[in-house]
Amino acid sequence: MKRKLSDRVINLKPSATLAITAKANELRAKGEDVIGFGVGEPDFDTPANIKESGIRSIQAGKTKYTDVGGIKELKAAVIEKFKRDNSITYKPSEIIVSCGGKHSLYNLCMAFFEPGDEVLVPAPYWVSYPPMVELAGAAPVIIPTGRDKDFKIDSDDLARYTTPRTKALILNYPSNPSGGSYTEGELADIGRFCVEKSVYVVSDEIYEKLVYDGFTHTSIASLGDDIRQMTIIVNGVSKTYAMTGWRIGYAAGPEALISAMTKIQSQSTTNASSVAQWAAVEALTGPQDEVEQMRREFEARRKLIVDGLNAIPGVTCRNPEGAFYAFPDVSGTFGMSYSGTKITGSMDFAAFLLSEAKVALVPGAEFGDDNCVRLSYAASTAQITEGVRRIGEAVRKLK
Ligand SMILES: Cc1ncc(COP(=O)(O)O)c(C=O)c1O
Repeated sequence: MKRKLSDRVINLKPSATLAITAKANELRAKGEDVIGFGVGEPDFDTPANIKESGIRSIQAGKTKYTDVGGIKELKAAVIEKFKRDNSITYKPSEIIVSCGGKHSLYNLCMAFFEPGDEVLVPAPYWVSYPPMVELAGAAPVIIPTGRDKDFKIDSDDLARYTTPRTKALILNYPSNPSGGSYTEGELADIGRFCVEKSVYVVSDEIYEKLVYDGFTHTSIASLGDDIRQMTIIVNGVSKTYAMTGWRIGYAAGPEALISAMTKIQSQSTTNASSVAQWAAVEALTGPQDEVEQMRREFEARRKLIVDGLNAIPGVTCRNPEGAFYAFPDVSGTFGMSYSGTKITGSMDFAAFLLSEAKVALVPGAEFGDDNCVRLSYAASTAQITEGVRRIGEAVRKLK
């Protein structure tokens, strides 16, 4: 190429989780028997009623451009979902449907953040938050947490990191990567602070349906009208309905901001796929029993992986409230060596497991916590059992 690429893209980090999956696939293509704990998507098939709804929409010719912010039937289904699940009432003008929750977040960053703004991002964080904030020219301000704090923040942490430039906090619960979530009381504490300091809350609740041991998901926006007015909820059908490839997500928030996000979307992607929108209507309004089946299956796998990891010396894993990730602290292995190579952090630990155990997982450094690694348990019971066995065997050989 004769001309330079933009600084914007030169400074942009590629998605680490996708990179790990690509690396594992490359080894598999060479005939290596790699167990992948890297990917962040349910391994279940999209429920049949949802697929059929998509097929019917194609046959009915619903294959044209739609309103930029989503068909009215899907907006109505999203509004109903918020009422039913979160006890929050929205108007259609407070909803946008995008090509995945990721796209709603991107629209939000472009519409709301600009140079000079600071955006609070508790670590460990989903890999895409800091790059998206940076693409908008704003500065992500990372709030460290750690295992001792169950990977969570409170209003004291917020007070320490908030400045007059702080515009928003990105809160993700249940969390990718820690799996941790916030109780109503913890959210109330955070909400009070944000209202007082005029810090908007970007509330990423994409894993809300995947919670375990009877944990109840509460949306921060449901805790009062003042915090509702300052919250933008991001959600979608990818994780709940095993619909990652359909690319339907949505956001709900103040009308002026949703309208600005819709303007950004109108000049970039236009509407999300018409067919996928009709499938999402069925997902949100149709029978929900498969969601519960998938949740139960994840719950059983969570126990298997967490118990297995905790039995490995040098590895400590918290029992996560939700999502489908285990985020063990592996710092007990730091300083040890294999084949003459010393493990000094999560990157080394992940490289060690890929080469010595043929197990792919994501280093915590990618999520802002170098003591940990992330394993997705959206994998079969057999894969989890064998993967954990391999990890244990490899770690026990460290000197
Ligand atoms: C925390 C979090 N937010 C948002 C998303 C975006 O999902 P999608 O764009 O498929 O709706 C993901 C997907 O990995 C995620 O883990």
